[in-house]
Amino acid sequence: MRIDVVTIFPGYFDALELSLMGKARDRGLIDLHVHDLRESAHDKHRTVDDTPTGGGAGMVMKPEPWGQAIDGILADAQSAPAAEPLIIFPSPAGDVFTQAMARELATEDHLVFGCGRYEGIDQRVFDEYAERGRVRLVSIGDYVLNGGEVASIAMIEAIGRLLPGVVGNPDSLVEESHESGLLEYPSYTKPAEWRGRRVPDVLLSGNHAAIDAWRHEQSVERTRHVRPDLLGD
Ligand code: ADE
Repeated sequence: MRIDVVTIFPGYFDALELSLMGKARDRGLIDLHVHDLRESAHDKHRTVDDTPTGGGAGMVMKPEPWGQAIDGILADAQSAPAAEPLIIFPSPAGDVFTQAMARELATEDHLVFGCGRYEGIDQRVFDEYAERGRVRLVSIGDYVLNGGEVASIAMIEAIGRLLPGVVGNPDSLVEESHESGLLEYPSYTKPAEWRGRRVPDVLLSGNHAAIDAWRHEQSVERTRHVRPDLLGD
């Protein structure tokens, strides 16, 4: 999968050089390109924001640098055989990102993340690219971050780990929280007793049917307790 990111803080994305994401990039499974929006701003101070038209607090990101940066990415994409890119603008005003959305986005060939800052990006940028192609505003939850960078990293990791070959043992993807609509059951490892706390006997029994039944019960119980909304009852 090709992923382009447009940001005024490229350094945030250094985190994606680590761990599984870093390995996936080294192996060519994820082709990540991070673009500094300021390189598309041409005044002396490489200005990317301005005061809101009509008044109000804060600053709004100017459309021209965004236009140049995204046009450049789209022109580059046109020379490759991949399908039409999907442009995602992280925003607290977007559709809420879920595991189901991660699965859907993991089927795309090319994602572009546009990381807004300040009070957001001039609306005409969304309108321009929604008219020319596919655009989605996506929120990672009902809280406000300082910009789209952290939200993009969260989405790139959730999507990236679903790509074939990124996670070594694909079985580990199946039993996770949210994959089955339930939260994950509690996990234990050795030793069988730690500080007087014993691993539940069933897990030491070797009876796989009983272990599966216990884990399912724990998942349901945990979900009922923490996230009853997921059970829909
Ligand atoms: N930008 C600021 N807050 C955000 C959020 N909750 N989700 C996505 N992008 C954001």
